[in-house]
Amino acid sequence: MTKLSDETRASLRSRTRLVHLGRDGEQSQAFANLPPFRGSTVLYPDVATLASRAQRYTYGTHGTPTTEALCAAWTDISGAAGTVLVPSGLAAIVVALMTALSAGDHLLMTDSAYGPARAFANATLKRMGVETTYYDPCVGAGIEALMRPNTKAVLTESPGSQTFEIQDVPAIAEVAHAHGTCVLMDNTWATPLFFPPHAHGVDMAIEAGTKYLSGHSDLLLGLVSADEAWLKRLEQTAYHLAIPAGPEDAFLALRGLRTMELRLREAERQGLALARWLERRPEVMRVIHPALPDHPGHAIWKRDFAGSSGLFSVVLDPVSEAAAAAFLDGLELFGLGYSWGGYESLAVPFDAAPIRTATHWAPGGPTIRFSVGLEDIEDLKADLDRGFERLRTTP
Ligand SMILES: Cc1ncc(COP(=O)(O)O)c(C=O)c1O
Repeated sequence: MTKLSDETRASLRSRTRLVHLGRDGEQSQAFANLPPFRGSTVLYPDVATLASRAQRYTYGTHGTPTTEALCAAWTDISGAAGTVLVPSGLAAIVVALMTALSAGDHLLMTDSAYGPARAFANATLKRMGVETTYYDPCVGAGIEALMRPNTKAVLTESPGSQTFEIQDVPAIAEVAHAHGTCVLMDNTWATPLFFPPHAHGVDMAIEAGTKYLSGHSDLLLGLVSADEAWLKRLEQTAYHLAIPAGPEDAFLALRGLRTMELRLREAERQGLALARWLERRPEVMRVIHPALPDHPGHAIWKRDFAGSSGLFSVVLDPVSEAAAAAFLDGLELFGLGYSWGGYESLAVPFDAAPIRTATHWAPGGPTIRFSVGLEDIEDLKADLDRGFERLRTTP
């Protein structure tokens, strides 16, 4: 394979990029894929090189050809200056927050953030002297009223975890930057393919590579991409926290990267088809999917996003707890599980109300989050059909 010239690389569309980025024929001894480089010890040719560390790889925790290839590819598709890898999506949130914040600082976190991110802020960041205020995800430029002189970071997540509020990230970023405040975003749902974060004013973007990058529910991985202003500090924080991603996971993620756009586009197609089918079900009160025109954030989604993925929620008409459980318990194709973005469909019940503090979540009926996989849509509908039958016949 001929090495890509800079001009060719710059001209490539995302699907081609995903196939060719992070592949280096020299490093992989002419094999198509880089192997998972496993290593703690890195050897030096002489004392002078050991003293100066003037060689590409220096120690296991500093990166390997496999992790570097993945970082380079992710940096490219994110439009960032660089990327660090950590062992989970939650670790990526932690590293990004610890990069932006110091004792005495104030954090603004969207009320719709991934639950464990709140737990980290409420316990560990608090113990370290960082105060957190939760804000309405739909605040937009109104975030101005919440800014304090010591507000050093705003965490966004769009759409929000489980409840799918779409945030006006560019408007939030404009206000934050006027105050010298760092903008972070958990971009896991859209990935950089459907929402290029740095082009929308995000300084550090978080991705749980566990989800669509993996695509196969068999690894845990987190990525944080940063623009130039934040990259050095991000790399230093990740290095000091000493939580490098494992070689096998980086290898599998590189494999997932090759098909990520195909899988995402299929997740979008399947997700929308199922969401529209669910909208027509008499047992369903509301489908919460940003790509549907009746979603309150649809106009912003349309303005800023290039697509939607296969994760959305529904609100059922009020039924007994037993009936809602009967719907889920007998599903044969939809698994009951949390980590989403894999090849298989999932359905989990959730209740966002107990963790909300800035907004009120009162959907009016039982809520279920669906992650739509790659099964035939007619088989999925038949599985849900049988579930609705159980729901109707359970008192
Ligand atoms: C939006 C979002 N961010 C981050 C995470 C955390 O990822 P991980 O499971 O790799 O820690 C999740 C996991 O469900 C998530 O849904």
